[in-house]
Amino acid sequence: MPPILHLSLSISLFLVLLTASTNGFSEEKNLLHSEILKDEAVARLFELGKVSDSEEFLERTFQSAASLRAGTLIRRWMEDAGLQTWVDQMGNVHGRHEGLNPREKALLIGSHLDTVIDAGVFDGALGIITALSALKVLKIRGMLGNLKRPVEVIAFSDEEGVRFQSTFLGSAAIAGVLPVSTLQVHDKSGVTVQGALRMNSIDISEDNLLQLKYDPESVYGYVEVHIEQGPVLENAGLPLGLVKGIAGQTRLKVTVKGTQGHAGTVPMKMRRDPMAGAAELIVLLESLCNQPESYLSYDDSTCTVGSAAQSLAGSLVCTVGEISTWPSASNVIPGQVTFTVDIRAMDDLGREAIIYEFSNRIHQICDRRSVLCLIERKHDADAVACDADLSSKLKSAAYAAVRRLSGDDPDDMPVLMSGAGHDAMAMSHLTKVAMLFVRCRGGVSHSPAEHVLNDDVWAAGMALLSFLETLM
Ligand code: GLV
Ligand code: MN
Ligand code: MN
Repeated sequence: MPPILHLSLSISLFLVLLTASTNGFSEEKNLLHSEILKDEAVARLFELGKVSDSEEFLERTFQSAASLRAGTLIRRWMEDAGLQTWVDQMGNVHGRHEGLNPREKALLIGSHLDTVIDAGVFDGALGIITALSALKVLKIRGMLGNLKRPVEVIAFSDEEGVRFQSTFLGSAAIAGVLPVSTLQVHDKSGVTVQGALRMNSIDISEDNLLQLKYDPESVYGYVEVHIEQGPVLENAGLPLGLVKGIAGQTRLKVTVKGTQGHAGTVPMKMRRDPMAGAAELIVLLESLCNQPESYLSYDDSTCTVGSAAQSLAGSLVCTVGEISTWPSASNVIPGQVTFTVDIRAMDDLGREAIIYEFSNRIHQICDRRSVLCLIERKHDADAVACDADLSSKLKSAAYAAVRRLSGDDPDDMPVLMSGAGHDAMAMSHLTKVAMLFVRCRGGVSHSPAEHVLNDDVWAAGMALLSFLETLM
C-alpha cells in the first residue's frame, strides 16, 4: 500500500473510532440527563427561591401573594413536564399524567410550596422540582404514556404552618384529616383560613373541604424527597438516605395575662408581670426537655410515664420560636404575653407525658405569680412509620441513581428518623408513604444558609427517575 494511502486510511479509522466513542460518551451522558435533572432543576430552585413576600428574605406563607406566584410558576413547570394541572380549593397545585391505565391506583409525589420566614430555597421546593425534572425526562424520552399507573405531583399549599399555626393545611385536606373547624382558625390579623382562600377567589366551604379527600382506593402510595435538615448524610459522605419514620409533634400557644402598668411607678412586690412569668415558663420547658427523666417519675400508677421518659431520651426537642407582648413598649409592664411551643418526639406517649407535666407546672407557676395562663393546643401529629415495601422500592431506586451517576455500587444507604415534620405525615392517613432525604450542608435548614450540592439535586432527581422507571 502506498504510504500516503496507508496514512489516510489510518486517519479515517482513527476518526471513525473517535466519532463512535464520542457518540457513546454523549449517549451515556444523555442518559444521565444532567441538563434537566441538575442544571435546570438547580436553576428552578433558585428561581422559585426568589418568589417571596419580602424583598429582604424568603417568605411564602399560606395563600400569600408570593405563594400564588409560586403556584403559577410550578404549574407552568408541571405543564412543561407533560402533566395536566389544576389548583384545588385548599390552594394545592396538582400535575397529573394518567399513564396507560387511568383506572389504576395513582402514585402521588409531593412536597410543599410554602416556606418559613427567612427560609432557604430547598425545604419543600426540592421535592417538587426533582419530581417534575424526573417526569420531564420521561416526557422527552416519549415514555410518559408507558407509565403503568397514573402519577400525580402535588405542591402542597402549607406544611410549615407559619400563618395559621395548624400545619399541613394542604396535605391534611387531601388525606381527609383536616377538621372543618380549621376553616375558622385565624391568623394574627384576624383573617381566617376560609377568608384567606376567599380573598384569592377560592370559595371553600365545609362541604367542599370534605370533598377534597382522595379515595384511598384510588391511591397506590405517596413518595416525598426532602432535604435532610440534619448532619447525618454529610457526616457519612453520602448524598441520599432513606427515612424510616417521622417524629410526632405538638404545637401549643401559651397566653400569660397580668396587670398592665407603668414601668417606673408600680412597686416590684405589687406587679403581676406576664413577661417574667413567660420567661420562667420558657426556662422550665427547656429543662423539662433537656432532662425528662428528672421530671417524669416512676411509680405504680404512672409506670407508663416512666417508660416514656426512657424512650424520650435523645429524640425529645422543644422550642419557643415566637413570642409577642402587648402593648410592647419599653416603659410599660405588659398586660399580656403570648408564646408558641413546639414539642417533638419519636415516642407519642412520651410527648403526651411531657405536655401533661408542662401544663401542670404552668398552672402552678401562674398561680404563684398571680397571673392567668391559658394553654391552647394548636396542632398535633403522631409519629409516623414509613411503609417497608414502598421504602424498599425507593431505596433500590436511590441505589440505582447513585450507581448511574458514580459508576460504583454505593457502600451504604443510611436509614434515618426525621425530626422535622413533612407532608408525608398527613398523607400517611391516606396511604402508605416513603421518603428520601438529600444531604445538606452542615445540616442547616430553616435558614438562608440552607444548601444542597448541585450533584445531590441531580442524584435526587435521578432516584425519582429510577423509581418512576419501575412503573413502566
Ligand atoms: C417543618 O419544617 C417542621 O418540621 O416544622
Ligand atoms: Mn420546613
Ligand atoms: Mn419541609
